[in-house]
Amino acid sequence: MLSTTLNRRLDDVFHIGDGAGANRIGGTLEEDHACALAVSWMEEAGLEVELDERGNVVGRLRGTKPDLPEVWTGSHLDSVPRGGRLDGALGVVAGLEAVSAVGRSERTLAVVVFRDEETGCHGSRWRARSAPLPGFYVELHVEQGPVLANAGAPLGVVTSIAGIVRCTREFSGKADHAGTTPMSARRDALTAAAEYVLEVRDRAAAIDGAVATVGQLKVKPGAANVIPESARVTVDARAPDQERLDRLIAALALEDAHYRIPPAAMSEQVRAVLGEEVERLGLTVVELPSGAGHDAEPLAAAGVEAGMLFVRSLNGGVSHCPEEHSSDEDIALAVQVLTAALRRLSNPK
Ligand code: HGY
Ligand code: MN
Ligand code: MN
Repeated sequence: MLSTTLNRRLDDVFHIGDGAGANRIGGTLEEDHACALAVSWMEEAGLEVELDERGNVVGRLRGTKPDLPEVWTGSHLDSVPRGGRLDGALGVVAGLEAVSAVGRSERTLAVVVFRDEETGCHGSRWRARSAPLPGFYVELHVEQGPVLANAGAPLGVVTSIAGIVRCTREFSGKADHAGTTPMSARRDALTAAAEYVLEVRDRAAAIDGAVATVGQLKVKPGAANVIPESARVTVDARAPDQERLDRLIAALALEDAHYRIPPAAMSEQVRAVLGEEVERLGLTVVELPSGAGHDAEPLAAAGVEAGMLFVRSLNGGVSHCPEEHSSDEDIALAVQVLTAALRRLSNPK
């Protein structure tokens, strides 16, 4: 049975900001508001709250052996525009519930809110290179895809997180009159960008398991009766392993991309603990890669034993939209597994 507190807190976060869906863009007052809520919940739970220089929030329950490496759980509270109710928020709210349920342990337990995850895991990337890290990190997150639903499985254990390359591409043309310029005399930046966008789609589709998205397009001057003189597109390209990521980079000529995140393998030890706790509930253990980026990636890259538990996404697995949904039953199972895993990791035999 899912606690009413968890659902109420998810609603409290979801209703921050205006418009449909979640609207807590990283670095905005809405994200700050959500973090302030999380701080109040952590204080209510008697946790010691740390706010680091990047704005990340760490709520600690000191262990009996505080010198041992800590065990963290959590996620992010920023969202994409018109995002879902669970992306990030579930990991924070459920993490707090799980830490409170485990109670004082040998290792210090903590629930963390990493800032500004959606545009590049900026808070967790800063923490991973600039401040003391935990020994273990376990993140609960919605799958944001159809794999678990297709497998009829409420929970999944993540094997790895996809590698991501991001950049922008500029196309230039010549502004001119839409009515008097013959088609043969035009230099139209937007039609050039449009051809590139379709190329990105087709070349990514030719590599099994790879994906590429042009999510933003900015046209100047942007008037209906002026031939576009410039068009700027963003490219987000991903693949499950380095070999396919390299092929995708070559296929899309992204060698100059500055934002390059290699695929991150999840901790074998954490995967085993999560799998055993899923099995203990009588559920089949489904292991799957994550096509979405997560805060667990920079932590894993920094040597933290990081793992992720996915809860089934319903409505066809949609996410990054208000229709994102998981059932209370599945979330309750996920909280049980997360709690059991944190209890084991923070009280080593
Ligand atoms: O974009 C992503 O993969 C994640 O939702 N930040
Ligand atoms: Mn997320
Ligand atoms: Mn997201």
